[in-house]
Amino acid sequence: MKRNKRSTDNPEPDLAKGATPDTASYNGTKKMKIETRTIQEQDHRGILAVVEALTAWFDSDARDRAIPADLRHQYGIVAVSEGKIVGFITLFFAEGRLNIGWMGVRPDYQKGGIGSRLLARAEEFGRQHGMTEIATYTLGDSVDYKPYEETRKFYFKQGFTIYQRNKTDNRGCPEEIKIKKQIAQPGVPGVAGGAPSAETA
Ligand SMILES: CC(C)(COP(=O)(O)OP(=O)(O)OC[C@H]1O[C@@H](n2cnc3c(N)ncnc32)[C@H](O)[C@@H]1OP(=O)(O)O)[C@@H](O)C(=O)NCCC(=O)NCCS
Repeated sequence: MKRNKRSTDNPEPDLAKGATPDTASYNGTKKMKIETRTIQEQDHRGILAVVEALTAWFDSDARDRAIPADLRHQYGIVAVSEGKIVGFITLFFAEGRLNIGWMGVRPDYQKGGIGSRLLARAEEFGRQHGMTEIATYTLGDSVDYKPYEETRKFYFKQGFTIYQRNKTDNRGCPEEIKIKKQIAQPGVPGVAGGAPSAETA
């Protein structure tokens, strides 16, 4: 499980401006408007409420220590529905890549495209800051644990591929996989998508 995930403080807080607000209709079963925008300090409580609803993914150390601490230092984007935070992604720069720190969508809002939207916004943020790759790590597939099987499925469907496998001495995460994805660049042939506009991200 994603325990004791590394956090990297960023020296340039202004970069968080890279993610701008947008709105769009949510085409899942609930048919409601979802806004994605940059995380603000007053969002932390709502984000932690999402985290509390995802105990199969985030253990007490992640919930009570790591995520609250990382929220103070990482960039991020929230998905908001009718004033309520329903999803979030946190981001930091390291090793020449944009990295996903933490990500979650409330269980009752999953499989409606919110995770994909948050990831698209994260890629847009990375592209705006000259990054060509987005990366993260997660529980390896040698560990039989259904919730993270779903997580891997999401990332692989989004185009992430494994670039490193590590055995660890963390009993909650004996194997971690490092995964990454190319960030589409505007005008580069063969890279699908190009840079989405604020309206389509
Ligand atoms: C991983 C996670 C963030 C994905 O968020 P999500 O909002 O469910 O993601 P999406 O809806 O964009 O995509 C998930 C699935 O819904 C499908 N989907 C997307 N839009 C849809 C729609 N409008 N109608 C029906 N299905 C849809 C996607 O095709 C995808 O299908 P799949 O499960 O067959 O691959 C979310 O499941 C989650 O919070 N998981 C627990 C925490 C976690 O794993 N965090 C990452 C590690 S820190």
